[in-house]
Amino acid sequence: MIIYSRNRRLRTNASIRSLVQETVLTTNDLVMPIFVMEGSNTQESIPSMPGIYRRTLDLTVKECQELYRMGVKAVNLYMKVSENLKDNKGTESWNNNGLMQTTIKAIKDAVPGMIVMPDVALDPYSIYGHDGIITNGKVDNDATNDALVKMSLSHAEAGADILAPSDMMDGRVSAIRTGLEEGGFTDVGILSYAAKYASSFYGPFRSALDSAPKENADIPKDKKTYQMDFHNSREAMDEVLKDVAEGADIIMIKPGMPYLDIVAKVREAIDLPIAVYNVSGEYAMLKAAAQNGWLDNDKAIIESLTCIKRAGADMIFTYAAKEAAILLNQ
Ligand code: PBG
Repeated sequence: MIIYSRNRRLRTNASIRSLVQETVLTTNDLVMPIFVMEGSNTQESIPSMPGIYRRTLDLTVKECQELYRMGVKAVNLYMKVSENLKDNKGTESWNNNGLMQTTIKAIKDAVPGMIVMPDVALDPYSIYGHDGIITNGKVDNDATNDALVKMSLSHAEAGADILAPSDMMDGRVSAIRTGLEEGGFTDVGILSYAAKYASSFYGPFRSALDSAPKENADIPKDKKTYQMDFHNSREAMDEVLKDVAEGADIIMIKPGMPYLDIVAKVREAIDLPIAVYNVSGEYAMLKAAAQNGWLDNDKAIIESLTCIKRAGADMIFTYAAKEAAILLNQ
């Protein structure tokens, strides 16, 4: 039998495979999420996220210097807020001398080239562990937007490059954009979590920040009234197009690996850069399997990040950013 078309011809050896390779992962694609806590010269490990730490500001700055030297040029910041600073409105989140604001300044002073992307959401600051202010037992969209604008302005004032609202309130991109324009922060970007699903894959992150919704009969027990339903796909496009129209600079889809159909679909539809969040639960699964010897850690990291890029991501938020950078630099 004569087979005229043989796909295996272009897989014969590593050289030919590299010539026909469609997707190449580089350190330019990586954004490292970072957890910061009060104090000095201390780091605490996070049991469900092996290799990831909550660090005090001084150690965070050192980590950023190291990341930057390795080619990781963006960090996404999260604060561990002590209980006594939490309230319903998340007031501490717009304290100009708060931990977030101090951290943004310190990183920009020490590593000016590092793109600093603070998380904009109330949950780490909320006594209820919600991304919104609770009014009469419900997450109050418009009151939350007002708080998010105050928080955004204080991040911009501290020197943030790109704000990353992860809350899923309606209309918050235009509210933040308006606030930034009126405040004179015309060059501060918005990376909008446009299609963020209510997902069980956020568990390890919430334990790292102690930010899970609190058990309380008077408030919603989960985030399903604002984060998307994982049964839906068309709705993601609606969310994305609204955020584009409201002035977002970059669109985020989250989680990553189980949601690559959404990434591919959005990639077809828009030309703005797309960020994908390879979330804490995805990281925890990979690490748990690798620790058991069930997966090759290094190969699984490079494969999963490359596949996220292949689906359409321009940048990937991943807890494996540093490990991936080490592997890519070898
Ligand atoms: C909260 C926020 C979450 C994550 C980023 N920002 C958790 C949530 O929505 O409950 C999750 C990140 C991860 O799991 O890695 N605004």
